[in-house]
Amino acid sequence: MKVVAFNGSARKDGNTAILVRQVFSELEKEGIETEMIQLAGQTIRGCTACGQCYKNKNRRCAVEGDIVNECIEKMVAADGIILASPTYFADLTSETKALIDRSGYVARGNDDMLKRKVGAAVVAVRRAGSVHTFDSINHFFLISQMIIPGSIYWNMGIGRAKGEVEQDEEGLRTMRILGQNMAWLLKKVNT
Ligand SMILES: Cc1cc2nc3c(=O)[nH]c(=O)nc-3n(C[C@H](O)[C@H](O)[C@H](O)COP(=O)(O)O)c2cc1C
Repeated sequence: MKVVAFNGSARKDGNTAILVRQVFSELEKEGIETEMIQLAGQTIRGCTACGQCYKNKNRRCAVEGDIVNECIEKMVAADGIILASPTYFADLTSETKALIDRSGYVARGNDDMLKRKVGAAVVAVRRAGSVHTFDSINHFFLISQMIIPGSIYWNMGIGRAKGEVEQDEEGLRTMRILGQNMAWLLKKVNT
């Protein structure tokens, strides 16, 4: 089994990536393969509402030339998907939103192709707005008919400067338990 994570932070290997790696550590203990795609430095435009994905039904976004179709292929191939974002103005980053809008529309136009995959949100935050970011990501999973495991708290870690989240012991623990629950759920769903 495989879990692919998309880190929508503008900072490569920042707090969001650290949190994702905590989840990965537990998945890997259970023999689940992991891969993280970091969107930092990528130019990703939003959905153009062209509707071609509903017509073409080729599991691709008609907007070519950026990383999104590669991300969609990785989502389809995976058993579990992590969407991770830092909190920007009490919501997810523009890159994360563009990925959601385009992959979500392609999925809906192609027989709900993400249906019954396991999904988890991971959120980094300095101070406030992370619950809203968490909700935004979970809205995508839920309308895609995906299944969501929980943890001991909503999936967030607190920190501002790169690496600061390492000091949020509860946040790190939340991610590790999320990883344990995600592994448990993946095994149930895939028996
Ligand atoms: C444009 C921008 C907007 C931000 N907005 C918020 C916010 O609304 N609330 C908050 O607590 N932190 C906010 N932050 C701080 C980040 O969420 C925080 O530094 C986070 O740890 C960054 O994660 P990263 O290292 O993965 O990029 C913002 C940062 C940036 C660059």
